[in-house]
Amino acid sequence: MLSSEDVKDDLDDFIYQAAGHQYINGFRTFLKCNDGTLLKIFQDGNRGHREMEFYSEIFSANHDSDQTASALRHFMPTYFGTVTIKNDKNSQPYMKISDVTSKFKRPCVIDLKIGRRTYDPLATEAKRARAVDKYPLQDQIGFRIDGMKVYNSDTGNYDDYDKIFGRKLDDDTIVNGLSLFYPKEEGWKISLIDNTILRLQALLQWFNSQSRWLFFSSSLLIVYDSDKDSSNEVDIKLVDFTHTYESAVVMNDTNANCTDNNTIYGLNSLLKKLNELKVRC
Ligand SMILES: Nc1ncnc2c1ncn2[C@@H]1O[C@H](COP(=O)(O)OP(=O)(O)O)[C@@H](O)[C@H]1O
Ligand SMILES: [Mg+2]
Repeated sequence: MLSSEDVKDDLDDFIYQAAGHQYINGFRTFLKCNDGTLLKIFQDGNRGHREMEFYSEIFSANHDSDQTASALRHFMPTYFGTVTIKNDKNSQPYMKISDVTSKFKRPCVIDLKIGRRTYDPLATEAKRARAVDKYPLQDQIGFRIDGMKVYNSDTGNYDDYDKIFGRKLDDDTIVNGLSLFYPKEEGWKISLIDNTILRLQALLQWFNSQSRWLFFSSSLLIVYDSDKDSSNEVDIKLVDFTHTYESAVVMNDTNANCTDNNTIYGLNSLLKKLNELKVRC
């Protein structure tokens, strides 16, 4: 367990956040440490606690020899424990996790909310209706663009695309949305799309091999370096585990098939759209 003393003097604003909340209870949702890690705030209610429990379970030393848990570590930020930050009035718990953007000179980031349904099995009817209403096409497409930060080589600045941009895209135009994430230059673009596809296929393989956890409303972060002199590496990580559950906990029927078909559908759909984009290049 870490303490706030470990980090107090080294905190900065995090400038590569593509989506999500900015502040909760007057505290910044993300803070950048100078050691390649971020602090992510505990969200209200059970959500922050659920996310922390999932991180600590996957990164528990007890699971070092557990193939399913340890294989997932490659597709998540690394977890280092919890930290408490204090302001004048309150204390706020945070999780310390690795910053997926830190190894890139000029990172471009897309946040894709993945799965046909973004509400969890415990959600009330009203909550389900609100979730569907945000993006009725989620069930058909299986993912949506929740935000992007893309370096624009013409202006030398970052272009920001928010969740409203993503919600305007439909089954045809979502490929145009994905296209905006990649650079214009054809060879470079194809190579980055190929690397995205390879890594997505590896993640899909993990999902096809497990039935222990169900993910609702998680995001896929895809990151590459827009600095030309850097490699064409594409990193893909799952983030946001505020609605991740052990399937045994949420499925009452012990004989139920607990494969996470919700997420698998989304990953397959994303792969299909990326292949369409490649053909168009
Ligand atoms: N480990 C990480 N490394 C880099 N960026 C991250 C990381 N975790 C989250 N982010 C950034 O913050 C955004 C919101 O993250 P998320 O965990 O989904 O928070 P929220 O619960 O507010 O939706 C993501 O879109 C991403 O840009
Ligand atoms: Mg999120």
